[in-house]
Amino acid sequence: MDYKQLIKQIDKKQMPKHIAIIMDGNGRWADEHNTKRVNGHKEGVKAVRRIVETAVEAGLEYLTVYAFSTENWRRSKQEVNYLLKLIMDSLIKEIDDLKANNVNIKFIGSKEELEKSYNKKVLSTCRSSWDNDGLHLNIAMNYGGRRELIDAFKKMSDDIISGKIKKERINDEMVSNYLYTAYMPDPDLIIRTSGEERLSNFLVWQSAYSEFWFTKTLWPDFSREEFIQAILDFQDRKRRFGSR
Ligand code: FPP
Repeated sequence: MDYKQLIKQIDKKQMPKHIAIIMDGNGRWADEHNTKRVNGHKEGVKAVRRIVETAVEAGLEYLTVYAFSTENWRRSKQEVNYLLKLIMDSLIKEIDDLKANNVNIKFIGSKEELEKSYNKKVLSTCRSSWDNDGLHLNIAMNYGGRRELIDAFKKMSDDIISGKIKKERINDEMVSNYLYTAYMPDPDLIIRTSGEERLSNFLVWQSAYSEFWFTKTLWPDFSREEFIQAILDFQDRKRRFGSR
């Protein structure tokens, strides 16, 4: 069925607020097509565009995509440089259009190793999109869930020492608001492509009650229809958040 027809089947009252995606399988897609890994990543960018567009059409509030993890630095220098440049070049091309479509764009992750990689225009357009109230698109760059927690612990201990917060008042909500995703809802649904079924250090704190949806489809082949199918499947699940 065409994805526009599938969107009509979504029950707006049961719509997930936040979907997070582990986009996996670009390298295997390239192997299957007898081409270089970089071409798998290029196709991966096209899939990102397709899914962002579909998320806007479906009226999703938050979409987080895992673009570059703290572990990705272990790949060859050549692949790392290619990936970082590809991500920035794609954003340079798309960012004005995203902003014009009322998308609110943020990077989540550690800025530390990436100072030189960020393009100034991309950063300023992102900042100027923060009043947009359409889709909130989080691009996880140099993101690691444990690194995020460590960064939060450091900030919290500074704030305890300076007296800004009291140790006794630390609770779930306060911890959440020290994370890169501060003041955002936790992901209701986490999608991972390519047949791997693990979290790989993604949204470690935020995924405590998330539903998971795994597919064998490789990321460059992930379609609009499959994305909407994942939402429809989520709507059939009963979430208990620990109660009966
Ligand atoms: C996994 O494939 C994918 C990545 C490491 C990066 C994904 C990045 C993009 C698709 C770039 C676009 C992002 C934006 C926001 C423009 P893999 O290389 O791990 O595949 P494999 O496991 O098959 O080797």
